[in-house]
Amino acid sequence: MATSISPDPSTSAEVAAPYGNGPAAGSAPTAAGGDAGPSGTGRKPAARIRTHHLHQAKLNGERFAMLTAYDQYTAEIFDQAGIEVLLVGDSASNNVFGNETSLPVTVDELIPLCRAVTRSARRALVVADLPFGSYEVSAQQAVATGVRFLKEGLAHAVKIEGGRFYAETVRAMVQAGIPVMAHIGFTPQSEHALGGYRVQGRGDDAQRLIDDAVALAEAGAFSVLMEMVPAETAAAVDAAVAVPTIGIGAGNATTGQVLVWQDMAGLRGGKMAKFVKQYADLRTSLSDAARSYGEDVRSGQFPGPEHSF
Ligand code: KIV
Repeated sequence: MATSISPDPSTSAEVAAPYGNGPAAGSAPTAAGGDAGPSGTGRKPAARIRTHHLHQAKLNGERFAMLTAYDQYTAEIFDQAGIEVLLVGDSASNNVFGNETSLPVTVDELIPLCRAVTRSARRALVVADLPFGSYEVSAQQAVATGVRFLKEGLAHAVKIEGGRFYAETVRAMVQAGIPVMAHIGFTPQSEHALGGYRVQGRGDDAQRLIDDAVALAEAGAFSVLMEMVPAETAAAVDAAVAVPTIGIGAGNATTGQVLVWQDMAGLRGGKMAKFVKQYADLRTSLSDAARSYGEDVRSGQFPGPEHSF
């Protein structure tokens, strides 16, 4: 049976926050889907998923789910549905800001989205993507950008794309107190360098990904995300590192899975990648709702007396 990670306050070493408005120790989240209700109601905060819970999940043979979120309502809905990790992805570039790729989005554009997500998620671990150009120059640049995401975006962790070349960068960020998720395999920010959307780590190239994951985990990354990697290679990477791995188009052997929420819920139109499974058809629902509303307005059916003062 599928289990949901549930930080257990009775066995947790976490104590009440010593200063101000921190989370109350001993306030456990209910099972996935529980603890619903509007935010800001003054209820006790739910226990937060931490990076060590994800690590424990791997040790226990449990799995966890991750979805992108870029705003208040999706963050709240996914959090209350029990999604363990929310990613404020640089895919906001394509899915919020209307760009063709993830490259144009900036730190200043992502930080307000990140703050909205973190304010709205009471249980999920919120990870923010460092966008293209905000960490590649030096470890110092990466630390400075990571600090902005934790300080201004209120993120709990950040994600960077790239292989072992970034091990020293990860080390510097972790030393600065910034938890880092590594992203290897197909890395969308390198789309032009990689020659388009291509599966990475096939055949002899598998060892490159294993070496990348080992170097990044040794440098302190708390997890390794793999995108568009053959299932067999992803399984070998997962076996080579102690930290949890997360897959998107990387088979079923990883501890976690991630999807872009507009793909998962069928909001985005057009052709989906092979690795996407759609769990809803929000595009049709929303389009039908907008059509009905438009018709009601044009025919004078809305607003009715019940909507009038
Ligand atoms: O930005 C994003 O949505 C991502 C996922 C593809 C993992 O990095």
